Amino acid sequence: MTGMAWGRMLAAWYDVVRQPSQAELNYWEQAAQRHERIVEIGAGQGHLSIALARARPQVLTLFEPELENLPYLRRRLTGYSFELVTGELGQDSTRGNDLAVLGYDTLPMIQRDGQGALFRHVARSIRVGARFHVHLYPPSKLMNRSPLPSLRRMNLGDLGVVEVSSKTVQHGPNMYVKRIDLRSEVLGAGEEYEFETWVVTDEDVMELARQSGLTLDRLAPSYGQDGGSNLGAVYEFVRAT
Ligand SMILES: C[S@@+](CC[C@H](N)C(=O)[O-])C[C@H]1O[C@@H](n2cnc3c(N)ncnc32)[C@H](O)[C@@H]1O
Repeated sequence: MTGMAWGRMLAAWYDVVRQPSQAELNYWEQAAQRHERIVEIGAGQGHLSIALARARPQVLTLFEPELENLPYLRRRLTGYSFELVTGELGQDSTRGNDLAVLGYDTLPMIQRDGQGALFRHVARSIRVGARFHVHLYPPSKLMNRSPLPSLRRMNLGDLGVVEVSSKTVQHGPNMYVKRIDLRSEVLGAGEEYEFETWVVTDEDVMELARQSGLTLDRLAPSYGQDGGSNLGAVYEFVRAT
């Protein structure tokens, strides 16, 4: 998520460990039900896109920059209609939508400058009266992470048993780096990643909205009530003018 391409092992690993809660899926399906044209930014492997698709909007646009994620996304959304966009997020993907989604703590994975640019882009291109829903974990979740490496072994299908070591280390006051090393015993090969994650506070996200002319309509309460892993809140912004 620092612009580095995802590899096969990382994509296969994320697809297994990313497990949205039922409450998270319900929240997005209900949010989508009131809208006809929806764009999801950072759709990943479709873990939330499927909830949006179940609401059967007229147009569902899924933007995901990492090619390795696309086979998972396509498979997860089999039978649903959607438009897939990769590469750059252009105006054509967001223009005229009445709901734009930035789900599952994706904002902190975008560089500071990029966060402002993304908010301005969305605010200018969605239609007047449209909504922009942004999910964020409380920064304490990131800041309280243990810097000790965790080691797991898991079976990733045709990649066989993969050993995954990951740790999160603070770099400066506002940035953490997550390091993930994956090694497949079957392939006898490894992949190494470093993902930057920026601390985004409530003040930061409100300032991003203010600078782009978006208004907060509602702060949706945590949808993590059925488990500890999906705590967080969704900022429901509106383009008022
Ligand atoms: C934390 S993952 C969440 C994926 C998915 N929405 C989910 O709920 O599982 C963030 C996703 O955003 C994508 N991404 C990274 N940088 C991005 C950017 N600047 N604009 C849009 N998406 C980005 C990543 O490739 C990744 O798939």
